[in-house]
Amino acid sequence: MTHTPGTPPGREPALADTQRAHWQRTHTANPGMYGEHPSAPARYAAEVFAAAGAREVLELGAGHGRDALHFARAGFHVLATDFSPTGLQQLRTAAADQGLADRLAVTAHDARDPLPLPDASVDAVFAHMLLCMALSTREIEALVAEVRRVLRPGGAFVYTVRHTGDAHCGAGTGHGDDVWEHGGFAVHFFSRELVDALAAGWHLTDVHPFDEGELPRRLWRITQETPR
Ligand SMILES: C[S@@+](CC[C@H](N)C(=O)[O-])C[C@H]1O[C@@H](n2cnc3c(N)ncnc32)[C@H](O)[C@@H]1O
Repeated sequence: MTHTPGTPPGREPALADTQRAHWQRTHTANPGMYGEHPSAPARYAAEVFAAAGAREVLELGAGHGRDALHFARAGFHVLATDFSPTGLQQLRTAAADQGLADRLAVTAHDARDPLPLPDASVDAVFAHMLLCMALSTREIEALVAEVRRVLRPGGAFVYTVRHTGDAHCGAGTGHGDDVWEHGGFAVHFFSRELVDALAAGWHLTDVHPFDEGELPRRLWRITQETPR
């Protein structure tokens, strides 16, 4: 088998590797593609995190950071991650322009890898449309285990995913494991069974359906907490 550049030796070339290049191109061609305003889930999460007394927020798949900037403006210390250095550079520039650089750090991270943080080191984790990227069920399970590892007891995890009721589920190219590629973007459409499985050992406090964008994307916003 030939080795794909950018893929660590021993790891199969995966859909996520080609998706990384696709997201790099997308963020480069469309700076600030999700706009300046925070998403509705981020506004909700900031309230949940504040009510829980959180100070540090880890955001996964932050893109160019419309939501990371909101968390920083709300007074949290934020670590924003994404596997696209281009998106993160846009976020770094916006944070500096808005005088938020002292509260917002960025680091490149592939959600398939362990989180670069110690155990029980953050109060809250947020991920808007990251777990439903081109990740296998096994990779999603490993990521949620990592989120649990880095959260302090009683820490909150708010994440959103497109689900099996979305119009694009079953459209385009199927990659198995409920992953469908449409217009160059691969999405893992979540079943309710997967949401429940990922909440095993957590306190699942909310599964909220909502829409975003013009398609519209059909999503769930999930809130779960680690036991105290
Ligand atoms: C649908 S966008 C959402 C961006 C941001 N959360 C927002 O709502 O504005 C998904 C983001 O996840 C990133 N991403 C996709 N797969 C990833 C992976 N395996 N590891 C880290 N980031 C990933 C992409 O680069 C992109 O910025």
